[in-house]
Amino acid sequence: MKSVPTPKRFTSFGGLTGKLRIPGDKSISHRALMFASLAVGKSEIRGLLEGEDVIATSKAMTQMGANISRGSDGTWRVHGVGVGGLLEPLEPLDMGNSGTSTRLLMGLVAGHDIRARFIGDASLSRRPMGRVIEPLSQMGASFEANEGGRLPITMHGAYPAVPITYRLPVASAQVKSAVLLAGLNTPGVTTVTEPVPTRDHSERMLRGFGADLEVEECNGQRIIRIHGEAELKPQQVIVPGDPSSAAFFIVAALLVEGSDLVIENVGLNPTRAGLAQMLREMGGHIEELNRREIGGEPVADLHVKHSLLTGIDVDPAIAPSMIDEFPVLFVAAALAKGTTMTSGLEELRVKESDRINAMAAALTLAGAKLEEREDGLIIHGTGGDPLSGTGNQPVTTHLDHRIAMSMAVAGLASREGVEVDDTRPIATSFPNFEALLEGATA
Ligand code: S3P
Repeated sequence: MKSVPTPKRFTSFGGLTGKLRIPGDKSISHRALMFASLAVGKSEIRGLLEGEDVIATSKAMTQMGANISRGSDGTWRVHGVGVGGLLEPLEPLDMGNSGTSTRLLMGLVAGHDIRARFIGDASLSRRPMGRVIEPLSQMGASFEANEGGRLPITMHGAYPAVPITYRLPVASAQVKSAVLLAGLNTPGVTTVTEPVPTRDHSERMLRGFGADLEVEECNGQRIIRIHGEAELKPQQVIVPGDPSSAAFFIVAALLVEGSDLVIENVGLNPTRAGLAQMLREMGGHIEELNRREIGGEPVADLHVKHSLLTGIDVDPAIAPSMIDEFPVLFVAAALAKGTTMTSGLEELRVKESDRINAMAAALTLAGAKLEEREDGLIIHGTGGDPLSGTGNQPVTTHLDHRIAMSMAVAGLASREGVEVDDTRPIATSFPNFEALLEGATA
């Protein structure tokens, strides 16, 4: 990331039209690089997200022995070291802004007899790592962490680690995946129970790479068992487009008059599909075209048209399937007719920023009417009128890409525009966001 903040003003340009293709899914891209690095032989990955977070994973896997290169056609080639073959990194693993890289890689290191030091930027260094330290310590790894279980952290993995049966105390795909990845090189069966289902990309892709993994559904819970000392076979992976990135264009097209947009290649895994469901309930026109399967994941093109939205009560049970989309849902709610109530969203306070507080402050500055609660926002929408905008005072993004992009969308739906203090973090997940936005509003 560049050393000086890059402010930018986002203003209304008329509708979003035409077709655009959003980049690869961030969650799937991290996993593709990690699992390919643990397979014996050469895997190829197409459609990989080339954002800073994923590049941090790629560098870390290289530091631990994988051979990773990018061809001129954008195909990534990975020669893996085999499960159990990770090397001790000589330098600290710099995770930048990426919680997913950090927590999943801690899981991988936990099952190897190696030491690794994890460092990250100011946002990542504020985020809680105790949630992975706890189960991975039960498996035999040891940790020296900064106060409150935060980065920088030096950890020592264990071989053989001890298989555990772990019930997730928070709905977190990162914690689930960390334990499963530690289980990959652990003798015996490691079991994770999730009371509320979270994104299942690790389970789908580990199976695709040949791991012995069972998923049992029982009274709404999921029990996942992975058989350790697995042998992963190299694969050809195609990464579908990221629904969390599509979210900004979906909401922008719904809010800005005159919009009629097709967003191609959007991943529609049911564990990620909550936002589209909520926006449809609010009256949004979102049509699925050409539904198909890519890389073991459901995908479609989305046709989105400007719509007048109506406020709703968002059931907290849907939160895990749209956990990264709340900032932009708050923007949609700010322009809806009536009130939108959200609750049960405490997890949003420990993302790249405290997203409840950051969005409350930013939207209020842009002229929205809302109340902040400990576990969510209550938003009284304008009924379709544009927000006033921020004047000359910029909104603060706190090194959080999703706050920056959500407030860019709010800017498109405002009279005077929204000044965003720093657009640099957008490159962590969606490097061509501004270019695609310019193309769609041209
Ligand atoms: C992710 C899981 C989610 C999500 C993050 C990506 C993943 O985090 O917010 O952006 O790839 O597993 P939590 O597991 O903390 O909910």
